[in-house]
Amino acid sequence: MRPVIIAACLLLLAPITDSWWASGSAVILDPRMVCKKNRRPRGRLAQICRNETGLLREISRGVTLGATECAHQFRHRRWNCTTQRRSMRKILMRDTRETGFVNAITAAGVTYAITRACTAGALLECSCEKGAPKSRRGKALTVPTPPVTTQSDRWQWGGCSDNVRFGLQKSREFMDSRYRKRSDIKTLIKLHNHNAGRLAIKSNMRIECKCHGLSGSCTLRTCWWRMPAFREVGDRLRDKFEGAAKVISNNDGDNFMPESTNIKQPGKKDIVYSEQSPDFCVPNAKTGSLGTEGRQCNVSSAGTEGCDQLCCRRGFTQTTVREPENCNCHFKWCCEVICETCFVKREIQTCL
Ligand SMILES: *[C@@H]1O[C@H](CO)[C@@H](O)[C@H](O)[C@H]1NC(C)=O
Ligand SMILES: *[C@@H]1O[C@H](CO)[C@@H](O)[C@H](O)[C@H]1NC(C)=O
Ligand SMILES: *[C@@H]1O[C@H](CO)[C@@H](O)[C@H](O)[C@H]1NC(C)=O
Repeated sequence: MRPVIIAACLLLLAPITDSWWASGSAVILDPRMVCKKNRRPRGRLAQICRNETGLLREISRGVTLGATECAHQFRHRRWNCTTQRRSMRKILMRDTRETGFVNAITAAGVTYAITRACTAGALLECSCEKGAPKSRRGKALTVPTPPVTTQSDRWQWGGCSDNVRFGLQKSREFMDSRYRKRSDIKTLIKLHNHNAGRLAIKSNMRIECKCHGLSGSCTLRTCWWRMPAFREVGDRLRDKFEGAAKVISNNDGDNFMPESTNIKQPGKKDIVYSEQSPDFCVPNAKTGSLGTEGRQCNVSSAGTEGCDQLCCRRGFTQTTVREPENCNCHFKWCCEVICETCFVKREIQTCL
């Protein structure tokens, strides 16, 4: 993806109206737009925008990281988190659980990419953290001890810890600062979901260690903080999507509460939303649904990728494809494996 080129095309196709700008989709569709559209960004956002070089590049990477993970998590579903911009723009203008997931995974992606760049030494503004992890005010944190091994229980902080504090802070400044003064329910939900995304990283940091000692004797271990793999972040947020809570504005209008009284107040790590999702069965320009016609389904699965569910009970067609495969392989002295190419038949089901 080339965000800059796509943004240029988008400008030609669709004039940027205030409504989709206000929806905040600009960050996800093209981070650089945030700086361009806010002619005179103020405060922290201004610092990020003026220093176009490193941080904005990492923010763009983070957005792409989030989008790629979203497409992976939803590949077997009616709504597959397609990167088709017109559809995504509509999704982001609403406030469904899909909107919530995209906002959360984007905030997580931005945090992740910036933190990773700090550790790699790719940003001038930050570096990895040395020594014991510290809280925001510089106090030492009480942290869990590394996993016990039979080899050694002596360990110390060392090496290069992921500087997740910096990534969290920049993600907040870039994605949230424009909304801080608003308190309508959609804004509250957006900020909540951004935070839920970041927490999927922050609360799943782990400790990695390396052994020191003569010939692997491991008399001492040095340990450092590492972010979870981004796939793990995606998995956790996907769980939160499944259990997302529908909320409404409270009586004072300054917070939200569960729509249903027998549901407990959603926690900080939960994804929330206020609008029912469409069923995504048929194309609908208003909701951003692309429909599922032509999608490949799995006739033997009872899950979301099963033909019943994916094709919305419209039925499917079956075609036989011949796929090349290695066969009759044998070992040739020395040292080669030689195979023939066979064609195997496979049935493919496609939604009507
Ligand atoms: C841009 O980043 C550099 C390197 O970290 C920093 O020294 C400088 O103050 C920043 N400039 C602005 C305007 O924020
Ligand atoms: C996602 O869905 C769209 C619309 O149905 C389809 O065109 C696209 O091929 C799908 N992507 C994947 C990876 O299945
Ligand atoms: C279809 O679903 C079944 C059951 O879940 C699974 O074992 C199989 O690998 C799936 N086939 C494909 C092509 O994904």
